[in-house]
Amino acid sequence: MKHILTTAALLVSAAIASAQTSETILNHWQFRHDHDTTLTTGWQSVRVPHDWAIYGPFSRDNDLQEVAVVQNGETRATWKTGRTGGLPYIGKGAYRTTIDIPEVGDRCWQLLFDGAMSEAQVFVNGQKACEWPYGYNSFHCDITPYLHDGGNTVTVLLENKESSSRWYPGAGLYRKVRLLSSPAVHVPVWGTYVTTPYVGGDHATVSVTTEVDGVPAGEAVTLKTVVYDPDGHEVARTVDTRTVTAGIPLTQHLQVPEPQLWSPEHPCLYSVSTFVMTGGKVETFLAKSPRRGRIEITEGGVQQDVVTTRFGIRTLEVRPLEGFFLNGKRTMFKGVCNHHDLGPLGAAVNEAALRHQLTLLKDMGCNAIRTSHNMPAEELVRLCDEMGLMLMVEPFDEWDVAKCRNGYHRFFAEWSERDMVNMLRHFRNNPSVVMWSIGNEVPSQWAEGGREVAERLQAICHREDPTRPVTCGMDQFDTVMNNGFAAQLDIPGFNYKVDRYTQAWPLLPQGVILGSETASTVSSRGVYHFPVQKAYGVCTDDHQSSSYDLEYCPWSNIPDEDFAADADFPWMMGQFVWTGFDYLGEPTPYHTDAWPSHSSLFGIIDLASLPKDRFYLYRSVWNGDSPTLHVLPHWTWPGREGETTPVFVYTSYPSAELFVNGVSQGVRTKASDGFTERYRLMWDDVVYQPGEIRVVAYDASGAAVAEQTVRTAGKPYALSLSVDRDVLEADGNDLAYVTVKVVDKEGNEVPQASDLVRISVTGSGTFEAVANGDAASLESFQSPQMHLFSGKMTAIVRSGVTEGDIIVKASAKGLRPATLTLHGTLGTQLL
Ligand code: GAL
Repeated sequence: MKHILTTAALLVSAAIASAQTSETILNHWQFRHDHDTTLTTGWQSVRVPHDWAIYGPFSRDNDLQEVAVVQNGETRATWKTGRTGGLPYIGKGAYRTTIDIPEVGDRCWQLLFDGAMSEAQVFVNGQKACEWPYGYNSFHCDITPYLHDGGNTVTVLLENKESSSRWYPGAGLYRKVRLLSSPAVHVPVWGTYVTTPYVGGDHATVSVTTEVDGVPAGEAVTLKTVVYDPDGHEVARTVDTRTVTAGIPLTQHLQVPEPQLWSPEHPCLYSVSTFVMTGGKVETFLAKSPRRGRIEITEGGVQQDVVTTRFGIRTLEVRPLEGFFLNGKRTMFKGVCNHHDLGPLGAAVNEAALRHQLTLLKDMGCNAIRTSHNMPAEELVRLCDEMGLMLMVEPFDEWDVAKCRNGYHRFFAEWSERDMVNMLRHFRNNPSVVMWSIGNEVPSQWAEGGREVAERLQAICHREDPTRPVTCGMDQFDTVMNNGFAAQLDIPGFNYKVDRYTQAWPLLPQGVILGSETASTVSSRGVYHFPVQKAYGVCTDDHQSSSYDLEYCPWSNIPDEDFAADADFPWMMGQFVWTGFDYLGEPTPYHTDAWPSHSSLFGIIDLASLPKDRFYLYRSVWNGDSPTLHVLPHWTWPGREGETTPVFVYTSYPSAELFVNGVSQGVRTKASDGFTERYRLMWDDVVYQPGEIRVVAYDASGAAVAEQTVRTAGKPYALSLSVDRDVLEADGNDLAYVTVKVVDKEGNEVPQASDLVRISVTGSGTFEAVANGDAASLESFQSPQMHLFSGKMTAIVRSGVTEGDIIVKASAKGLRPATLTLHGTLGTQLL
């Protein structure tokens, strides 16, 4: 611990040396699982971001909820097992750290929390500095009055109540915590707002609004504002000296020539630096790059603060009858909803894990994410800016009317505006954010006064950020159509009810519809049930759902219906599928007394970050740049010889021919209407024989253009390892996702292998976690061994802080072991 304190002290001293606002990330903390902070024993050293509950153990009793889920049409309370992941997130926790500030001086010191789960109370040297109940939001507090020169203790008390969530929320300081040190005159947190009111081919207008705190009333400040293009070259600057009136920000307008527009295809990012000065006359100004921006004041002025903000130049429009336009081009949302947990890593945010997720989603052709149903981590939004994904940012799952007994409704009256304001100010400069949502399936849709609440929340969005439209995920179709709730939103967003879009559209003044939440199809990677049937609410003894992708929920549908709506209705804005990734909690359809199920089956990609078959269905429709040809199921079915085993092909090509052991089963061509026949090629009567299935895809002219073969696997022979990236940044935070599988002697995957595999990591990296995607597995994510599920699992490896090789070894009884070498290096270019 001594070493940790020393590190913190060094960092803070460095912060003080610089005049402008500087930040120190506080990642070394001590944690205890109660609020007995006066005790000297019982603390453990942890690294923040930290999720205290992900270490388990899983238990049916963790947050067992007796509830009737009204949104799902339930009228009688039943025991919901695993609803919040079966992990021990309930209870109290305390974190403390020491920040060494040699001289507090006249600077302003603030703590900025990206999120703290939940009901945070922050104390500095024993005095309460602030509190923030909502665990998902970012908040900051001025701790200057409580500081003294030298060591200062920061303590954060947290508490999670039972029945406070419908999914796994995580627990603790699961997002970044920063100490900000600012000069007396400074730009406050989120005090810059950049908009682009005019965007043309020859130039764009960039308006920069800056708040300045700490200026004595009536005194002047000089703001020098410089815009840099995506290559870091200065492209515009302006200088204004203005008298500051407390609380009134200053706005400057600049012109950027020939703007490079932000879009998912070309995520061009500009930045703007604002230099705040008091006194003197500014003669010379040098600004070479946003990072090294420097100002020279020749006549006695004082540079106070510098703030650099990244932004994008792009236009957004919702056109009645025509949908959504980005930069003047009709753009469909090919989106997914995601919860915030990172599977085996829990809620503790990690940029590399998020980047891994987004890379998979981009490859699928996904262009948007809905941050269901809460404020996202800053890292996610930044990555979406950089990698090119649009975001619907959503704050709430409930307003003043409860969905969960101890949910956010307890805080709504007092905190909702503050929560909205923080979210809006935090993310209003990020070009990836293209719309706000004010909530998800809130029971207030049908409550008295609910429409007015929606109106108030939408008005807060418009007040804080008039540049983006507002939506809300609505599920009470008839109610919201009749009570004016749907009609008042900028964008009517329907959760499910795809069959009623045509009924809603003529009645809505907006002239567009968004599928704010779609599909809720369920499947387990590599699991196939026979006979194949399209049905909802299917539960089987194995606690899995079939990967023929025809099982869904009573309130939902298969993906094909949403594809058809997007394709057929010119007024559709697109959709956000429930969900991109499996998440902890909500193990529908195994949610009622169905332990050990405890994680979702909705994901297109499983909890181990391994794509399910459904990934290729979406890819075949959404990814217009790279062809898709995928065949299912696997072809190793001992005991099924002679039985009907349908074969489906998900492909971007119009037709294909299937061969079983060289014998043609006929050509299938996509239908021009309908659902499954339109998006899948299906051979329903194939009889299983060991050997191989080969599918040959034909283009529109009938030419064979691609093929794929799946062979019956022989005896399990060896383990095999593959990895998404083999060069990691040696920063202690980078992650590699290693796929572990079993192959036969010829290298064919053994699809039903369930061996117990042990992982060891040596060299310049460490073992982080394992996951296999089985929603009913109670094995620990942190133990370096796990059973394969449907032949695979993922081992996550963390980089160390020194350069060098990272050796990953996998072993299992009776199989040849496998080794993979990764490299930890300094200064990799990740994007
Ligand atoms: C929706 C809800 C989501 C999730 C989903 C499961 O009604 O908005 O949070 O519960 O159902 O199908």
